[in-house]
Amino acid sequence: VSHEERGGGVNRVHLVQQLPHAIIIGVRKGGTRALLEMLDLHPTVVTASQEVHFFDNDENYGKGFAWYRSRMPHSLINHVTIEKSPAYFTTEKVPERIFGMNASVKLLVIVREPVTRAVSDYAQVLEGKLRKNKTYPSFESLAIDSTTDRVNTKYKAVSTSIYTKHLERWLHFFPAQQIHLVDGDLLISDPLPELQMVERFLNLPPCIGRDHLYFNSTRGFYCLRSGQHRGTRCLAGSKGRRHPSVHPAVLHTLRLFFHPYNQKLYQITGRTFSWQ
Ligand code: A3P
Repeated sequence: VSHEERGGGVNRVHLVQQLPHAIIIGVRKGGTRALLEMLDLHPTVVTASQEVHFFDNDENYGKGFAWYRSRMPHSLINHVTIEKSPAYFTTEKVPERIFGMNASVKLLVIVREPVTRAVSDYAQVLEGKLRKNKTYPSFESLAIDSTTDRVNTKYKAVSTSIYTKHLERWLHFFPAQQIHLVDGDLLISDPLPELQMVERFLNLPPCIGRDHLYFNSTRGFYCLRSGQHRGTRCLAGSKGRRHPSVHPAVLHTLRLFFHPYNQKLYQITGRTFSWQ
C-alpha cells in the first residue's frame, strides 16, 4: 500500500502485485519484446520488465506462485499484468503448468515468417559466440543435414519455427479462443492494427493510438512515445540485428519445408499469414 499526497489531502492508492492475466509465451525472435513494450503503452497494462522464466525453469518453478507473483510489477487491482518469457512456447511441460496456475489466463504468441525467424535466431546465437571469441558453424550447415541434404529438424532454430507442432501441445490444455496470434511481420511494418487486435482480445478499452508510435528511419523500426511528456524510446540495439546472408538454395529448401506446417497453422488458428 502506498500513499499519495495531493493538495493537502491524502489519497490512498492500493498497489498490488498480481499473477499475470496474460502471458506472451513466444515465439523467440518473433518480436516478443516489441509486443510487450508496445502493450505497456496502454494505461491499464503493467508489464514485468525482465523475462521471469518461471514455468520453464524447474528451480524457479520450485519457488512457487508466491515467488512468481513477487516478480510482477506493482499495479492497481483492476490493471492487467503481462509477462513474457519466449522459452515457454517450446518447453514441453509449460502448458500444463500454466493451466495449473490459471486455466483462463490469456496467451499471446507472436509469430514471424518461419525462415526469417530461424535466421534471426541463428544471428542471436552467433553474436553471443563471437562476443566470446568462439567460432560457430554457418547457418547453412546447421539447417541442412549434409549427409541426407534434408532439413535438419533437430536444429533448434528450425524446430522452433514449426509453430503448429508446439501450438498443438498448448491446445491440449487451452481452447483456441484463449490463444491469440500476433503477426510479427506486421508488428514491424504497421504495428497499430496488431496492437488494437490485442486490446480487443484482452478486453481492454482502445487506448493505444497513432501518437504512441512513430517510425524512426534511422533505426528502421517503429519507436515508442509515452508518458506525460511524450518522451521517445526505441528498443535496444540488439533488436533489429543484421542477418547473415544465407544461400538462396537453402532459403528455398527451408521455405518448401515449412510450407505444409504453415498451412496447418492457418487451418488451426483461422488466421492466414502472408508467408510464401
Ligand atoms: P531481428 O533482430 O531479427 O530483426 P524478440 O524480442 O522476440 O527477440 O524479437 C526480436 C525481433 O523483434 C527483431 O528481430 C525485430 O525485427 C523485431 N521487432 C519488431 N518490432 C520492433 C521494433 N519496433 N523495434 C525493434 N525490433 C522490432
